[in-house]
Amino acid sequence: MELVICDTPEEIASLAADRIEALIQAKPNAVLGTATGSSPLPLYDELARRCDEGRISFAGVTGFMLDEYVGLEEKHPERYANFMETNLRSRIDMPKGALQGPDALNVDPQAACREYEEKMAQAGYCDLQILGIGSDGHIGFNEPGGSLQSRTHLGVLTEQTRSDNARFFNDDIDAVPTHCITQGLYTIMQARQLLLIATGENKAKAIAQLIEGPISAAWPATIMQMHPEAVVFVDPAAASLLEHAGPEGWK
Ligand code: GLP
Repeated sequence: MELVICDTPEEIASLAADRIEALIQAKPNAVLGTATGSSPLPLYDELARRCDEGRISFAGVTGFMLDEYVGLEEKHPERYANFMETNLRSRIDMPKGALQGPDALNVDPQAACREYEEKMAQAGYCDLQILGIGSDGHIGFNEPGGSLQSRTHLGVLTEQTRSDNARFFNDDIDAVPTHCITQGLYTIMQARQLLLIATGENKAKAIAQLIEGPISAAWPATIMQMHPEAVVFVDPAAASLLEHAGPEGWK
């Protein structure tokens, strides 16, 4: 796994955007996996800027979202479909409808999970999957204790995740959904490249486990150690509990 420690979120955004730009240059019809949360927002700003400048075009790119809350009404701004529309899709030249997510409004969530996995499999899964990480080590919404080989599934959010995400719901933990649909760890691992972004001290423990801990369902992101093309971008605060990283990170 490649670890890159950057001084600022802007530097992370720029280096991460370079990877996505290189991918789309090599493959204009690339399949991009997108993540929600605050960590990728500077990257999305940078991608929108490069698109405005005519440096990157997403006209041929399609995308799959990582996850979605279950139980939010269609127009809720924190529904990840709406979050991704606002923060990325509508700001770039990707055609409407080209970025898909799990259909958490489906009355049969299990069927929605099967359909989503099938769609991703038919598309050959993602060329590059953008990821954030939860303070409890989740990627997507794969919480501790789940299978390391899971496909897209209906999941239950931990108290930790609901409390972390309450800031998006007026600090009201009761307003945070209890369930989600998420790509599984197997699904995420099918992507040809994984690109994870983590900033801030709140992520330091999860990053230490991700990079230096044993592979374990207790810290789901650690499955990334098995991926041949994974890069992790962190700031010094998120890197602060690593034992072996020098200032340049390590490879
Ligand atoms: C949510 C998302 C994850 C994301 C995580 C971290 O739980 N489902 O995909 O990685 O938030 O969010 P943030 O970047 O805001 O810390």
